[in-house]
Amino acid sequence: MSNKGTSNALSGKKVAVLGAGKMGGILLEALLKTGLLSPKHTQATVAHEDRAKALGRKLGVSVGTNNRNAVEGVDIILIAVKPQVVEEVASQLRGRLSARQLVISVAASVPNSLIEKALGGDIPVIRAMPNTPCFVGSGMTAIARGAHATAKHVELATTMFNVVGRTVVVDEKHMDAVTGLSASGPAYIYIILESLAEAGVKVGLPRDVATLLAAQTTLGAARVVLDTGDHPALLKDSVTTPAGCTVDGLMELEEGKLRVTLIKAVVKATQRAKELAYAS
Ligand SMILES: NC(=O)c1ccc[n+]([C@@H]2O[C@H](COP(=O)([O-])OP(=O)(O)OC[C@H]3O[C@@H](n4cnc5c(N)ncnc54)[C@H](OP(=O)(O)O)[C@@H]3O)[C@@H](O)[C@H]2O)c1
Repeated sequence: MSNKGTSNALSGKKVAVLGAGKMGGILLEALLKTGLLSPKHTQATVAHEDRAKALGRKLGVSVGTNNRNAVEGVDIILIAVKPQVVEEVASQLRGRLSARQLVISVAASVPNSLIEKALGGDIPVIRAMPNTPCFVGSGMTAIARGAHATAKHVELATTMFNVVGRTVVVDEKHMDAVTGLSASGPAYIYIILESLAEAGVKVGLPRDVATLLAAQTTLGAARVVLDTGDHPALLKDSVTTPAGCTVDGLMELEEGKLRVTLIKAVVKATQRAKELAYAS
């Protein structure tokens, strides 16, 4: 991971991560590891005291269970609790924040307006949707600004998420689709990888070799799409020799309806994202 060119925007900033679970913990750990956040300027909260103690020991930052105390004097508040808990946490902060602070929520499905309303006042809010590969610096995060967030706030959030991968700014209306595609996406890719590795074993490869071939091939293909900007269909054609082996493999994929299955997976996950904040 590199923090080149990003240190200025975040340097000296005090950050509180409210809900340092899986995603909050990944972001917190990555930002500390790169040195962009200093442990003494970083706070976190979780729900359980014992988790707070363990996490505090592990990361060397102050971790508690009181959200109101944690946001005192910080510049950026990252909300990473489950979607159903966001309104409660934001309400706890009502009257405790000023417009000089920035709230970033990574909760799926929760609109900026809900957080703004719960916080009261003109507090800048940004909605972000990262994914778990942020852990290794190859994450994908989409961000959408709320009513009181300025271009400067967007820049700050972009800087922060660029540390753990790539960032794209989208209209908020697209955030559920982002959730269905890139936030849930790693799970789809893991299934594809697992299947390719299993296939390698079926055709006689040792499992570790098969897994390496599948993973590096996935990484390589993704890299070509990102680096060339070429349409994936064109790139697929370039691998497919007339009457060769690949076209036989592709025919099996078509027969197994891989494309439509993946499309339906993203559509379903997007639909679920629309209702998550209101689910019990
Ligand atoms: N996982 C992903 O791939 C992913 C991707 C993008 C966005 N997100 C979003 O990230 C958020 C968290 O998801 P997750 O998978 O990281 O869940 P998680 O592991 O369950 O983390 C939630 C954390 O919130 C803490 N918590 C619960 N109530 C709290 C409260 N009132 N105040 C402070 N902390 C509280 C929990 O504390 P304890 O540990 O003590 O129980 C836990 O550490 C969700 O909104 C989700 O939509 C997740």
